[in-house]
Amino acid sequence: MKDNNRRGFMGKAFGAVAGVGAIGSLVAMKKTWDPLPSVKAAGFTTLDMSIYKENELVVEKWRGKPIFVLKKTAGMIEKQTEKQKSRDIIINGEHYMICIGLCTHLGCIPAYNAAEQGFLCACHGGQFDWSGNVTKVPPPRGFDIPPFKIDGNKLVLGEAGPEYTKMKETGVTL
Ligand code: FES
Repeated sequence: MKDNNRRGFMGKAFGAVAGVGAIGSLVAMKKTWDPLPSVKAAGFTTLDMSIYKENELVVEKWRGKPIFVLKKTAGMIEKQTEKQKSRDIIINGEHYMICIGLCTHLGCIPAYNAAEQGFLCACHGGQFDWSGNVTKVPPPRGFDIPPFKIDGNKLVLGEAGPEYTKMKETGVTL
């Protein structure tokens, strides 16, 4: 009887230790599955929109890709077509073209000509207007717009806000 109690106690104690060990292993395993904090943070890029100047292309970086940021001039906004307007990202009343700076033909990085207010891809001669629409083939479509969310005077790249969702739904970007 005494021996039975002892065995019962030993069994429970062993079970408890094994249980704690198993939970510990699961926690350790989950830690290895979870992305590192630095990787999580790398998914988002926050841009302070107050630093950009009109008709001056700035190339930012998001998830290893170049991001074109072009603040439009009053003249550009005034003469825009509906197609150009549909790609505008408006923050605090200012209009911006913000897109992935890779040619949609074969991925070269086009150059911006501020005097002509357009982009030229030197690889095969593709051209884009100041809104990122194709004006000369072979690129099959305009520059892709990355997921973005407007947060006051900031723009968060990597997070899909309502303005971006609308662009996707209306076929403005992929
Ligand atoms: S990669 Fe730009 S035109 Fe071919």
